[in-house]
Amino acid sequence: MSFQEKLERNIWGLSIMVAIVVSIGGIVEIVPLFYLDNTVEKLSKEEDSIRPYTALELEGRDVYIREGCYLCHSQMIRPFRDEKERYGHYSLAAESKYDHPFQWGSKRTGPDLARVGSKYSNEWHIQHLRAPRSLVPESVMPNYAFFEDHLLDGVLTEKKMRALAMVGVPYSEDDFSAAAEAVRGKNEMDAVVAYLQVLGTMVKFEEGKDYRE
Ligand code: HEC
Repeated sequence: MSFQEKLERNIWGLSIMVAIVVSIGGIVEIVPLFYLDNTVEKLSKEEDSIRPYTALELEGRDVYIREGCYLCHSQMIRPFRDEKERYGHYSLAAESKYDHPFQWGSKRTGPDLARVGSKYSNEWHIQHLRAPRSLVPESVMPNYAFFEDHLLDGVLTEKKMRALAMVGVPYSEDDFSAAAEAVRGKNEMDAVVAYLQVLGTMVKFEEGKDYRE
């Protein structure tokens, strides 16, 4: 019996060998990250206009996550020509530095949303979320008209911001104390639209410029 045949009949031996082989792969991928100066490439000073989400945008983002929009929409434009022609400049790591968890995704039943901000008016988004097929007859996106019936109570907004601050998002004491007031009287539709409208708009891209240091 060859070594391979023996190993394949020995459940423990095989498990250990598989673990060793898989960890070699893991080490090769992970160890270099500890030696790079910066795994998230910084933008040069003038372009570093990436800011944390406002209270309303943050609530919108939470609705986006709750509803599983990411199951049909990615938020990462890859550095390929067809992607850039359709969606704009490819996504930079720095653009999602305050996203916990990031919404990159890979499933695209619908289009990528990384740069959907300011592509349409707020009215367009509201109508589209209420009834996607009223604007795009062939759409398979669900209706989200109920967003308008759900008022934000703002009870958790400050806590959510504090939790994000703990993992490095630079919110200030002023942001915390203004959080509940900032979402008062708004509904989930306002929040989701505010979130969609900021996506991909924080860096002002110029043709032919390299945005990494
Ligand atoms: C079942 C899959 C599916 C889900 C879930 C889904 N969408 Fe969509 N979405 C689509 C498809 C397909 C399109 C393209 C047709 C259209 O515009 O309706 C689209 C289009 C869009 C567009 C327009 C993008 C553009 O560039 O034209 C936005 C904005 C959008 N969706 C937001 C959302 C949000 C926010 C949610 C969650 C509340 C969501 N979608 C959930 C499938 C989905």
